[in-house]
Amino acid sequence: TQPEQLPVRINDKPYYPDGDPQMPLLWYLRDVLRLTGTKFGCGIGACGACTVLIDGKAARACLTPMQAVSGRAITTIEGLEGAQLHPVQQAWLEHDVAQCGYCQAGQIMAAIDLLARKRKPSDDDIGEIANLCRCGTYPRIRSAIQRAAV
Ligand code: FES
Repeated sequence: TQPEQLPVRINDKPYYPDGDPQMPLLWYLRDVLRLTGTKFGCGIGACGACTVLIDGKAARACLTPMQAVSGRAITTIEGLEGAQLHPVQQAWLEHDVAQCGYCQAGQIMAAIDLLARKRKPSDDDIGEIANLCRCGTYPRIRSAIQRAAV
């Protein structure tokens, strides 16, 4: 008998993926579920464009195989949608952070993880996020995270 498969919960809904267990989570999110807010940047864990939360912690979906997420809870940028914007999204708008916008979903998910770990992150803490932004929006990212921390 097959061991019972635990669902992967994605934005609070259970899924039972039956494809290749080595498929990166990023592919499943974008190509299977069409949750395209999470972006493909480098595919090798270097840029952070694909950052999602796994059990509340920032993780790079391009490096996470589906077999590693059974029984876990994934939150993508789409999962933040509710009646109101998430406070980090609100701070992002107030500080007009996005330029081209491509990396921003990953930046926001990484910021949420950071703020869950450190209520008042320092500039160094924020620098440790290390998600790349080709437009160089780093000063506005820093201001928005500090705003969201208030
Ligand atoms: Fe995953 Fe760049 S696409 S880290």
